[in-house]
Amino acid sequence: MYPDHLVKQFNDYLEQILDHYRQVPGALREAICYCVQNGGKRLRPVLCMLAARSLGKDVKTVLPAACALEFIHTYSLIHDDLPAIDNDDLRRGRPSCHKAFGEDIAILAGDALFAEAFHIICKHQAGSAQAKLSVVQELASASGALGMVAGQFVDVYYAGKKISKDTLDYMHQNKTGKLIKASVKCGAILSRATDKQIKGLCRFAANIGLVFQITDDILDITSNAHCLGKTAGKDSKQDKNTFPKIWGLAKSREIARQKVNQAIGALEGLGLDSGPLEEIANFLLTRKV
Ligand code: IPE
Ligand code: IPE
Ligand code: MG
Ligand code: MG
Ligand code: MG
Repeated sequence: MYPDHLVKQFNDYLEQILDHYRQVPGALREAICYCVQNGGKRLRPVLCMLAARSLGKDVKTVLPAACALEFIHTYSLIHDDLPAIDNDDLRRGRPSCHKAFGEDIAILAGDALFAEAFHIICKHQAGSAQAKLSVVQELASASGALGMVAGQFVDVYYAGKKISKDTLDYMHQNKTGKLIKASVKCGAILSRATDKQIKGLCRFAANIGLVFQITDDILDITSNAHCLGKTAGKDSKQDKNTFPKIWGLAKSREIARQKVNQAIGALEGLGLDSGPLEEIANFLLTRKV
């Protein structure tokens, strides 16, 4: 079962944060709120909160980091949908940001969200200076030139070209996996996890990060815009390299199942309350949206 109560708690906190943006001018503010407030699973915040809870901490203690993660994720969706990248008109059941506000404002809203993510950590996250610095380091490296942007680069550069299985793994690990891994790791760092616990949680997160994107690729084929709230069938239309394209649907599902088992295995012996994390791992395999 998906932890909807954590989503609600997160959304309530997000409203408080957005209140600080009252003075942001006109359509920029509207675009930021339009994209951030519009639902989504809040998977990255939920993972950060569950990592904290697995270590016996109150999820409230990591809400600013959770918010920063969602800001980075939302920025990545806004830019991913731009005509120059995936040219997608629909996101979370509504016109994507550039459709609603124009490309210029969409680019700027994404830029603002990315910078504000770091601002939120500096201003609102509790914890030692060292822990906050580590969180900033994790977020920056997960989303930068050796992280999400590298994955997005491979995604667009190799569209229509043949890629190896290793490059496909690299693409998925980077474009989506690293921010998912950072979500768990930041929750763990702020909850003063031991090195062994951080290592195990990172192994868990690296595996579910891959599962997440494999399922995203599968749903693009097997689902529809009504269910997904975003355009379906666009990967094959744009000749994107995806797990089903390289491995086929059945084998992709099998790989995802193996990765879930590996993820759950990585949590063993760490002294964590790992039940909710295991549930999320299974959810990522069966999710319909
Ligand atoms: C979609 O992410 C984009 C990818 C990284 C593949 P999500 O499926 O987490 O999107 P929301 O936040 O729930 O809308
Ligand atoms: C997007 O991957 C990954 C990032 C935004 C970093 P996709 O292009 O597959 O995401 P969707 O399917 O548009 O949500
Ligand atoms: Mg894309
Ligand atoms: Mg896309
Ligand atoms: Mg996709």
